[in-house]
Amino acid sequence: MKLITIAIDGHSSCGKSTMAKDLAKEIGYIYIDTGAMYRAVTLFALQNGLISEAGIDEDGLRQHLPEVMITFRLNEETGRPDTYLNGICVEREIRSMEVSNYVSPIATLGFVREAMVDLQRLMGAAKGVIMDGRDIGTVVFPDAELKVFVTASVDVRAQRRYDELTAKGEACNFDEIRANVMERDRIDSTRAISPLRQAEDAIVLDNSHMTIPEQKAWLLEQYHRVADE
Ligand code: DC
Repeated sequence: MKLITIAIDGHSSCGKSTMAKDLAKEIGYIYIDTGAMYRAVTLFALQNGLISEAGIDEDGLRQHLPEVMITFRLNEETGRPDTYLNGICVEREIRSMEVSNYVSPIATLGFVREAMVDLQRLMGAAKGVIMDGRDIGTVVFPDAELKVFVTASVDVRAQRRYDELTAKGEACNFDEIRANVMERDRIDSTRAISPLRQAEDAIVLDNSHMTIPEQKAWLLEQYHRVADE
């Protein structure tokens, strides 16, 4: 069986990470959530007063970016990797509405993208990796052997994000979440650098009406189709 690189791109809150994490666990691959990396940078900016009413302090962030150390460590309890910012687990904080509201503008900054893409290429250099994000199949690993582009309707995606936050006990409002999902789609797809788009050789999966086990089975089949060749 070939060791391959799997790139999973697509819209926000469409369940990319759930299916990617499940597959990684099943086949023993490393899973990298690149959205979590942009979220960690956003959290760092918020914690260090680099985001205010006036906007993002780009010069300040550029200057402090070398201090941002992002790592992933397997959580023995969940069997999934948690995101660490400078040695501290921030898995919960990076999923908050506050971070969600600022992460797309942070992810449009060229110097942030360059640093994250370098790190992602290092993390995936040995193959045997599943990476999910927006530009993995187009920019980070254009030679990935398996590329999947995931999408689902806005209402389905907003409902999934709402259920996720509610399950964590976070107070949230469906309409606000729906607006945030749409706004992130808009920013992610129209930004100048590495906009969200489907790679020409990606397989499209619209999972609006699929259950999690169905998605998992579909992805496992795609993996075997490529890796067993
Ligand atoms: O997948 P997510 O919702 O956690 O991603 C958070 C944000 O980061 C999203 O607005 C798009 C951005 N992102 C990106 O620009 N490139 C990636 N490879 C991953 C995420």
